[in-house]
Amino acid sequence: MISVAGLGKTFQSKSETVHAIRDVSFEVAAGEIVTLLGPSGCGKTTTLRCVAGLEKPTAGSIFINDRPVVDSKHDVFVPPHKRNLGMVFQSYAIWPHMNVLENVAYALEGRGMSKADMRAEAMRALDTVQMAHLSDRPAPRLSGGQQQRVAIARALVGRPQALLFDEPLSNLDAKLRMEMRKELRRLQLQIGLTSIYVTHDQSEALAISDWIILMKDGQIVERGRPVDIYCRPKKVFTAQFLGATNLFPGTLVALDGQRARVQGPHGDLIGVLSDPELRIGAPVQVSVRPEAIRMASSLGGTGQADANQIAGRLELAVFAGNAVEADVRVGEAKVLCLLDHDADLKADRDVVLTFAAEDTLVLANE
Ligand SMILES: Nc1ncnc2c1ncn2[C@@H]1O[C@H](COP(=O)(O)OP(=O)(O)OP(=O)(O)O)[C@@H](O)[C@H]1O
Ligand SMILES: [Mg+2]
Repeated sequence: MISVAGLGKTFQSKSETVHAIRDVSFEVAAGEIVTLLGPSGCGKTTTLRCVAGLEKPTAGSIFINDRPVVDSKHDVFVPPHKRNLGMVFQSYAIWPHMNVLENVAYALEGRGMSKADMRAEAMRALDTVQMAHLSDRPAPRLSGGQQQRVAIARALVGRPQALLFDEPLSNLDAKLRMEMRKELRRLQLQIGLTSIYVTHDQSEALAISDWIILMKDGQIVERGRPVDIYCRPKKVFTAQFLGATNLFPGTLVALDGQRARVQGPHGDLIGVLSDPELRIGAPVQVSVRPEAIRMASSLGGTGQADANQIAGRLELAVFAGNAVEADVRVGEAKVLCLLDHDADLKADRDVVLTFAAEDTLVLANE
């Protein structure tokens, strides 16, 4: 288990002070993979480097399996090589003059192991990532995905307490990235290693993680299971960062348990209240995912008592393979809809957008 509490890191130079992270706290349970997700510069790498020991935090503590590796108050700082963590970075840093097996075995140098034991351990790690058959291959003659596997084998070979990943797939092309993310998830489920994974790619985070921690400006915005944080975000920032969403501004005018009624320039909308703190009169944003919207040619007849309806004009519909992407103009706003792939592509006509109240979220305005 990894436990991070009140972590802060300030970079100080002559010309400026950068508060890279502030009061970051989270836990990674044994065998789980927790992803730090967020836009560029939000402090993901800094947090990971503090856990690795490559950066000395200015505040807070880090415990790995109940052992303090950082405790700023008591001036505890365990150097990286004594934390027994495996790391995989964006640049794989594979030695070009070595073959695959040597690259992995090299990570065990300095541990006082025999050559034979080092080779055996390296073969075991290569087997885990399904690269044992390429152990003799010179490193420069590997594909991007294969290099990635060697980098993972090298991180695994010392039997680390935990694995740290920093954007490990971002050098791969889109198709390979999709394959490797499944591969990583499979590996994670198979070996059950405690991991922290850093990415700015929301779909990668959704696919790979047990938990997602969303960061912004050096702080944690929200955390949750992938399904929950995607389907039931509590913040507008989360709804926008995790996939596309449509937002309609308004005022909260009525509450019935979890059901909230919002009045705004698009008429009354009904949705699920995301934040129990919200009170009548609060300014809110109504969030609807593009895939939750249906398109009809006239009002009424949805068959659902509390379906929302908004009239608009279809400006453009494009075929996107598995769906049709439609831009619908509603007053000042442009609404994105993902429709069934056999939807009518004819543009420049009046349409009615329908979405169920249970697919509609009412979020606090930020
Ligand atoms: N050595 C440093 N000196 C000064 N500022 C730094 C240093 N390292 C990081 N920062 C700053 O700290 C903030 C957080 O950087 P960090 O690298 O953690 O972001 P990130 O979330 O990993 O972003 P990216 O997705 O672009 O990798 C940024 O504003 C960055 O400029
Ligand atoms: Mg980074």
